[in-house]
Amino acid sequence: MRKKFMGGNWKMNGNKQVLVKLVEKMCELGIDQYKEMDIVVFPSFVYLDEIKKSLKDSVIKLGAQNQADQLQGAFTGEVSPNMLSDVGCEYVLLGHSERRHIYGETNEMIARKFKLANEQNLLPVLCVGETESERLQGQTEQVIAKQLESVIAYTGIESFSKAVIAYEPVWAIGTGRVAVPQDVQMVHQFIRAVIAKKDESIAQKIRIIYGGSLKPDNAAEIVSQADVDGGLIGGASLKAQDFVMLCQLSC
Ligand code: PGA
Repeated sequence: MRKKFMGGNWKMNGNKQVLVKLVEKMCELGIDQYKEMDIVVFPSFVYLDEIKKSLKDSVIKLGAQNQADQLQGAFTGEVSPNMLSDVGCEYVLLGHSERRHIYGETNEMIARKFKLANEQNLLPVLCVGETESERLQGQTEQVIAKQLESVIAYTGIESFSKAVIAYEPVWAIGTGRVAVPQDVQMVHQFIRAVIAKKDESIAQKIRIIYGGSLKPDNAAEIVSQADVDGGLIGGASLKAQDFVMLCQLSC
């Protein structure tokens, strides 16, 4: 049995007061009863330290939304994996579609980030997914295979024993259009098969989570698919009640 994973990607939202309150509310609503799963929140860099303090002894863990592809030095505006560990992060999102499509991150760049995160003991949550036009052209598997294989070729398959994969169809992120559960299952199965071609045991163990407009009222069928091991939640993770409900549905 794979341990379930629920991530809250807060993106560039909130402020110190609002986000600390959000954590407090999640705790009040009983999020700590879901000890059997990994629950991780991903605030903006500038609030990591504050949120870490507000988590106290909650089960909620801390992650960052991005990371540099270098360890240290003259890289103005970047944040290195060891800085993230230093403020208490255990996880880092890499290759989120907003990084790929708005900020032009390439598969090669993401592979470098992944390798560094792994070496610095941060657990990467590698996001993959097709755009709407790629899906319509029947290229979903091809796109995802390339996104995965470019990282595998650079880091080696062993590094996936310490990683999570998030399947996030770009057309479903923040749009309210959630993917059909059977389609999600097929893509997750495909992702597991890509990993299995290199290492069967890693493929069986790796968590593959779904993200894209998941809400309490549409998540039940998706998170109960055989190859879905949890979710990456954007909008609904900014509402304590919705996020706690999503944890309940996934546990
Ligand atoms: P959404 O975002 O839940 O708002 O669609 C998901 C994500 O971007 O990780």
